[in-house]
Amino acid sequence: MNIGILASGGDGPGMNNCLYEIVKGLKNHKTTLFEYGYQGIVDGITVNYTLSELNKVKTLGGVIIKSSRSQEFMTQKGMQKAIRTIKKHEIDCLVIMGGNGSLCGAKELVKKGVKVLFVPTTIDNDIKESDYSLGFDTAIYQASQFVKDVDFSMQSFDRICIYEVMGRHCPDLANRVGKNVNACYVFTANSTKEDLLKNVKHAIKIGNYSPKIILQENTVNIEELKKYLQENLKNRDIKTSIIGYYQRGGHATELELKYSKLFACEIIKCIKEKQFNKMVVKKKNIFESIDI
Ligand code: F6P
Repeated sequence: MNIGILASGGDGPGMNNCLYEIVKGLKNHKTTLFEYGYQGIVDGITVNYTLSELNKVKTLGGVIIKSSRSQEFMTQKGMQKAIRTIKKHEIDCLVIMGGNGSLCGAKELVKKGVKVLFVPTTIDNDIKESDYSLGFDTAIYQASQFVKDVDFSMQSFDRICIYEVMGRHCPDLANRVGKNVNACYVFTANSTKEDLLKNVKHAIKIGNYSPKIILQENTVNIEELKKYLQENLKNRDIKTSIIGYYQRGGHATELELKYSKLFACEIIKCIKEKQFNKMVVKKKNIFESIDI
């Protein structure tokens, strides 16, 4: 069989290892790597990497075959071009690594008759079918490390700091980072400014003069939140820090490497058993595949 592979949407550590393990496990098949995600199948961009080249990057963040958020693929014309590429390369099955948006794209391809397998990869951990998506553990590590490091300086001045983490509309990353860094408050979509203020005041009262606040992106503007706290905590110095892409980079954690290999094994199993239009998921401690 000829197995196409692409990475779409937000990248994250673990994707390279998953790619390496899939290619390694499919040594007896042909693999065609598409660059730049769905845009790559629209434009027909393929790239060659030897197993040894993939081995060199398997623990690194990012994704060697590159990603994109393709607008063109979402159009009828773009989809037609993608289907033409898949036919031209005689792809028997397309393995897609991606997040929520990419899963919608995968479903569209299935509707057009393309055989697809899907690996959940996003630091947001917002694919509801799976308890885990690749990149999540490393993002928790990176963001937590960032907060812990910056906190040394905050402590020296008794400063309060609000740290914004990614996660799109999912609170998982914010909550896990909050727990890791012993945050005074994790501000998510259900939070209120009043509740935050109450908790910060309590922290100060019991002697924590540098309470850490973790803010989930897309909930409230970080500067607005700072202004609110500043108005209500007159003699306190408040800083803000948007962690940004640091949390999407870094080196895959040990857990990331383990899970990316287990996802890859499920993909290989599906291909060997000729089971298509599935996504691999983690449910509690079981790695399995379910219908897309
Ligand atoms: O989906 C992963 C993610 O990192 C989100 O947490 C964030 O909102 C978004 O991607 C940023 O997307 P981009 O890198 O395309 O700006």
